[in-house]
Amino acid sequence: MIAAVVSTKITNSQETLIIQRPNNGLSLKGNISIPGDKSISHRALMLGAIAQGQTNIQGLLLGEDPRSTARCFSLLGANISQLNTELVEVHGVGVDNLKEPSRVLDCGNSGTTMRLMLGILASHPEHFFAVTGDSSLVQRPMSRVIQPLTQMGAQIWGRKGNSLAPLAIQGQKLRPIHYHSPIASAQVKSCILFAGLMAEGKTTVTEPALSRDHSERMLKAFGAEIQVDPETNSVTVTGPAKLKGQDVVVPGDISSAAFWLVAAAIVPGSELVIENVGVNPTRTGILEVLEKMEANIIQENQRVVAGEPVADLRVRYSPLKACEISGSIIPRLIDEIPILAVAAMFAEGTTVIRDAAELRVKESDRLAVMATQLQKLGARVTELPDGLEITGGISITGTDVESDGDHRIAMSLAIAALNATGTTNIHQAEAASISYPNFAKTLQQICT
Ligand code: S3P
Repeated sequence: MIAAVVSTKITNSQETLIIQRPNNGLSLKGNISIPGDKSISHRALMLGAIAQGQTNIQGLLLGEDPRSTARCFSLLGANISQLNTELVEVHGVGVDNLKEPSRVLDCGNSGTTMRLMLGILASHPEHFFAVTGDSSLVQRPMSRVIQPLTQMGAQIWGRKGNSLAPLAIQGQKLRPIHYHSPIASAQVKSCILFAGLMAEGKTTVTEPALSRDHSERMLKAFGAEIQVDPETNSVTVTGPAKLKGQDVVVPGDISSAAFWLVAAAIVPGSELVIENVGVNPTRTGILEVLEKMEANIIQENQRVVAGEPVADLRVRYSPLKACEISGSIIPRLIDEIPILAVAAMFAEGTTVIRDAAELRVKESDRLAVMATQLQKLGARVTELPDGLEITGGISITGTDVESDGDHRIAMSLAIAALNATGTTNIHQAEAASISYPNFAKTLQQICT
C-alpha cells in the first residue's frame, strides 16, 4: 500500500485539498466518467423552462452553477424535478409566460445563469425582476449584455452606471437588432438570441471569432428558427418563437476532461481513458493545443448524441513541447487556459499565451491568480496584460496555494501538485463543486 496521496481537510466550511506526492512518484491509471457539460446543462434547464410541454434531461451536471439556474427558473414558475444525473423533468411555461417572483433571483457564482437569464427576463413585459449573485459575480461586468439589451429596448438598472449586479429589470416588449459584439462570448451571444425569441423579426449577433454554439444547436432542436452564417460568425433568430420541450442528453464536459488530459500528459507512466466527452468543434481548442504540444491523445468511439459530437479520449504520458496559444483559438479554449498553464510548466521551452485578457473577468482574475499561485510552487511564470509566459522544465516544490474561490484554479493547482515534491495544500478547494463535485474523489481513485 502507498501512503494516501489525496486527502481533504475541512475547517469552517472551507476545504483544503492535500496532495502528497510519494518519494518514489506516482502515476495515473484508469477509466473516468466525467460530469455533464456545464454550458449545455444551463441551456437545457433554461430552454426547458420556457418551452411548452416537457423537457427530459439526462446527464445534467449536478454542480453549484446549474443548481443556481434551476433555483432561479423554479422561482420563475417552471416545474423542475429534483436534480439528478439520471433524468430531470422540466415542465415549461412557454416563452412569454414566466411569472414575476416576489423574491430576488440569486445566481450564486454563475455568470452564465445571470447573463443568459437577463435576455429572457428583459423580454417579459409587465414583469419586474431583481437579480444578484455571490461576491465574485457582483464584480463581473454585466454591461456587455445590458448594453445590447438596452438597444433592444430593455430597462435594466444596476450598480456603477448600470454595469454591475445587483440588477433590477423592468420587462419590456423588445425590438430586434443586429448586434456586432466586440468580444467573442457565448454568454453575450446567447443572451441576445434568447431576448430575440420574443422580439418580432430577425435578431442577429455577429462575433469577432466563433464562440461555443450550444445555444444555436439547442434552440434549433427546440423548434426556433435559427440561421447560422459561418462566413461572418453570425447567428439569426426569428421571433416571436415557440419552443417545444425536448429530450436532451448532456455529454461530459470537455472543460472538466481537460484536467485529466493534462494530468496524464504530465505525470510519467500515466494512461487514462476519459469516457463520453463532448467534442463540439467550438470547444476542442484544448485538444488542438495539446496535440501541438505533442501530447498523446486518441479520440475513440466517436459518435453524435442528441445533436452534439461525443468521443472517449485516451491519453498517455509523453514529454510535452512549449507552444504559442493566441488568436481565434482562444474562445475555443477560454476555460482551459489555467490548466494549459500547468501543462506549460512541464513542457520543454517557453509557452506564450496571448489575447486572453477575458480571463481577468472570470470567476477570479485568472491571469493574476494563476501567475501568483504557480510562482509559489516555484514555476517560472510571467503575467502579461493579456496572457501568461511560462518556461517549462523547472522542478516544483509543494507548498500552500489558494484557489481564490475559483473552481478551475482549484483543480488546476491540484494537477500541478501531482508533479510537486512533498506536500501541496490547496486552500478553498471546495470551489471545485461549482463544476466538478467529485473531483477530489476521482483524483484519489486514479492515483496509483
Ligand atoms: C460560457 C461561455 C464562456 C465560458 C463560460 C461558459 C457559456 O464565457 O467562459 O464558462 O456557457 O456560454 P464567455 O461567454 O464570457 O466567454
